[in-house]
Amino acid sequence: MRAISRKLPSAFARSRVACPPARVRVRGVHTSSDRSPSLPPNATPSSTTHFGFRTVPEESKEALVRGVFDSVASSYDLMNDAMSFGVHRLWKDSFVSLLRPGSSGPMRCIDVAGGTGDIAFRILDHARETHGDRETRVDVVDINGEMLKEGHERFKKTMYHNTPQVAFIEANAQALPPETFPDNTYDIYTIAFGIRNVTSIVDVLREAHRVLKPGGTFACLEFNKVTNPLIAQLYDQYSFSVIPLLGTILAGDHASYQYLVESIRRFPSQGDFARMISNAGFAVGGDIEGDGCAWRDLWGGIACIHTGVKL
Ligand SMILES: C[S@@+](CC[C@H](N)C(=O)[O-])C[C@H]1O[C@@H](n2cnc3c(N)ncnc32)[C@H](O)[C@@H]1O
Repeated sequence: MRAISRKLPSAFARSRVACPPARVRVRGVHTSSDRSPSLPPNATPSSTTHFGFRTVPEESKEALVRGVFDSVASSYDLMNDAMSFGVHRLWKDSFVSLLRPGSSGPMRCIDVAGGTGDIAFRILDHARETHGDRETRVDVVDINGEMLKEGHERFKKTMYHNTPQVAFIEANAQALPPETFPDNTYDIYTIAFGIRNVTSIVDVLREAHRVLKPGGTFACLEFNKVTNPLIAQLYDQYSFSVIPLLGTILAGDHASYQYLVESIRRFPSQGDFARMISNAGFAVGGDIEGDGCAWRDLWGGIACIHTGVKL
């Protein structure tokens, strides 16, 4: 697995930020009906994972996911609003409010798979507006330079531009370079709508645990399992018929949005994911086996917040 750790050139923001390198745009990522990506000649077939509904070699997934987000980066906000009728904004607000950044003084936060900076800006807004804190800092980490570029464009229009409060860093959540992300550094680790795209959730959780301070909070916002069968059926119909169609109409990209809905269905259930968080060394609170306290469903489980405290 290739670990990408590139500090972005200084023109971009606080010391860490820089213009992400240009990458080949990969439009039209293949979906379940397409052929599997071929391995390089002489490569030994390895373990497999899923990319949406397809089974692919583990080493292929990162590039496929990169292709999706290269492709959707420029239309990401428009599509998010169109697909969710703007509700993703409310979910993100709830997610950040729950964490109360700035409530006990300035905090060091890391927002992983942070792409467009949606969570980072909310963290800083919450700290400032609710707790009068202008010193909390957020490192926005993403594997994809195109998404970071979009985030940086937005960052330039915020009041945090030219402050040391935000840094954009290109890196892989599964292998955060220790020289940039030392052990026991952060008070809050967030990952929103990102973890279902990674090749190894276990590796991401291990890294989250490493970089958090003891007592620090891991928080994940992700699409999850809808429990009510009737709502689940309606949601399935909407997801598989409307979302890829919207992708075609608004972004000229059916395949990436087909991947989006498929990847949601492949993500572990609320309970299974809570168990993974617990196994990574976090206290999850509540009963994983079913009282629902170990996570918080939003809209019947369409989205879900999981938290854990580093022991
Ligand atoms: C759906 S976007 C979420 C962006 C943002 N957090 C939000 O809520 O709007 C998923 C992000 O995960 C990033 N990502 C996927 N795999 C990653 C990895 N292994 N390490 C870091 N970021 C990753 C993608 O590049 C993309 O920006």
